[in-house]
Amino acid sequence: MKFTLNGQVVETNAPEDTPLLWVIRDELGLKGTKFGCGIAQCGACTVHLDGYAARSCSTPISVVEGAEVTTIEGLAENNDHPLQKAWIEAQVPQCGYCQSGQIMQAATLLADTPDPTDEDINAVMSGNLCRCMSYTRIRKAIKMAAAEAREAN
Ligand code: FES
Ligand code: FES
Repeated sequence: MKFTLNGQVVETNAPEDTPLLWVIRDELGLKGTKFGCGIAQCGACTVHLDGYAARSCSTPISVVEGAEVTTIEGLAENNDHPLQKAWIEAQVPQCGYCQSGQIMQAATLLADTPDPTDEDINAVMSGNLCRCMSYTRIRKAIKMAAAEAREAN
């Protein structure tokens, strides 16, 4: 089966119940998307599936046929998405393990809500867990990125 990954058509022969995360990491070699819980409860594996945030650990490859998948590696051509720049400026990560999932989730938030309130951020980000408790910096970076994106438009 074929799908589009970060703008390129890719092909896999994985069994149809194989999680998308396995195909992305182990078959196609993109390691930015992380395995945390494996049961759609932590958000570490978040990617975009046809523009929506999806837990790739719990998405069987069979439902991805013909779809567009974006991982952290494909979020911006030069890793310069406003969120990525804000994440660096605000020094968000601690261990870093959850952070690609956090950024991918936040990108869908900003796409839908360019000027998010704390409540908007809580509503969309609450399923992305961080054992290092970087939540305050995540919130700050989302607001910085939102401000930058608004200025650019
Ligand atoms: S690894 Fe997918 S949600 Fe935790
Ligand atoms: S930075 Fe360590 S789990 Fe989030």
